[in-house]
Amino acid sequence: EEDVYILAIESSCDETAAAVVKNGREILSNVISSQIDLHTLYGGVVPEIASRKHIEKINQVIESALLESGLTLENMDAIGVTYGPGLVGALLVGVAEAKAMAYAANKPLVGVHHIEGHVSANFIEHPDLEPPFMCLIVSGGHTHLVIVRDYGEFEILGRTRDDAAGEAFDKVARAVGLGYPGGPKVDKAAKEGNPQAIKFPRAKVDGNRYDFSFSGLKSAVLNHINHANMMGEEINVPDLLASFQNAVVDVLVSHTVDAAKEYGFKKVAIAGGVASNSALRKGMKEACEKNGITFYYPSPIYCTDNAAMIGTAAYYEFINGARADWDLNAVPNLKL
Ligand code: KG4
Ligand code: ZN
Repeated sequence: EEDVYILAIESSCDETAAAVVKNGREILSNVISSQIDLHTLYGGVVPEIASRKHIEKINQVIESALLESGLTLENMDAIGVTYGPGLVGALLVGVAEAKAMAYAANKPLVGVHHIEGHVSANFIEHPDLEPPFMCLIVSGGHTHLVIVRDYGEFEILGRTRDDAAGEAFDKVARAVGLGYPGGPKVDKAAKEGNPQAIKFPRAKVDGNRYDFSFSGLKSAVLNHINHANMMGEEINVPDLLASFQNAVVDVLVSHTVDAAKEYGFKKVAIAGGVASNSALRKGMKEACEKNGITFYYPSPIYCTDNAAMIGTAAYYEFINGARADWDLNAVPNLKL
């Protein structure tokens, strides 16, 4: 059988990334140029700056990815690119680049859903993992609990009604003066704190029991800080962050494991930037072990935005016959 090589491009938010992926699961190169330092100055991602930075970096990132793979554009079987969801200007840079390269080199083009990419990150280091399985996707922009029925085929069981999990981490981090992105900083600081110190609410939502809500928890944390400030009380920041993180993890773990049990799945995976959170990994591992469920999670480098995961998703789309036309466009609110 012939090997299949995909050149993948990702530019949906603040990382410019390119990768070369062999047969879907073998990563030959994975180049990421992060803009985080730039956006930190503003406390969050500035869309206009993101687009401009992508334009500056994308050619050299792709060149490096090809060089590191030891292959050339000629060797590629297809070009895969994230076309949504994300920031429209940022997405457009990757989409325009991928279309131009595919057209010039006469290669098939495959459009990839960013969230499908995050889920696919689990395939990279787990050769035995195949659908169907339960997957929790937790990133800066998304919180979804899905059944992965097949490659590229999802059934959504629950989603956030308000803030995404990563967004909650970032907002709480900002409230205690940690910079952007706050998730990794909260994770680190919380290690020194007591997760039982403050009883924060576990958000219950009406209707769908697998939906999430984090804005109430975020408000509870902010109220706690304001109250302490008003009373002139000292805040124990590690305790506060550990307690907040514990509340988030509790809900993420219980929803996921409850759903796995209800639908009879023995395999659970997590994906997205927040999937690199140490408390979530630990909590999910313990709950899965207790229930006889095998737990899969990507290395941190494949949790946050990268192009390797896009290449993996593109491979399965490609072998299933998916081809994008030359009118492929960025779709900022692309649905799963
Ligand atoms: O998947 P990602 O790189 O971008 C999106 O598609 O949104 O996720 C970024 C998000 C940010 O909100 C960041 O704070 C969060 O993931 N994050 C974390 C951790 N590492 C990244 N949140 C909690 N703990 C972490 N260790
Ligand atoms: Zn992402």
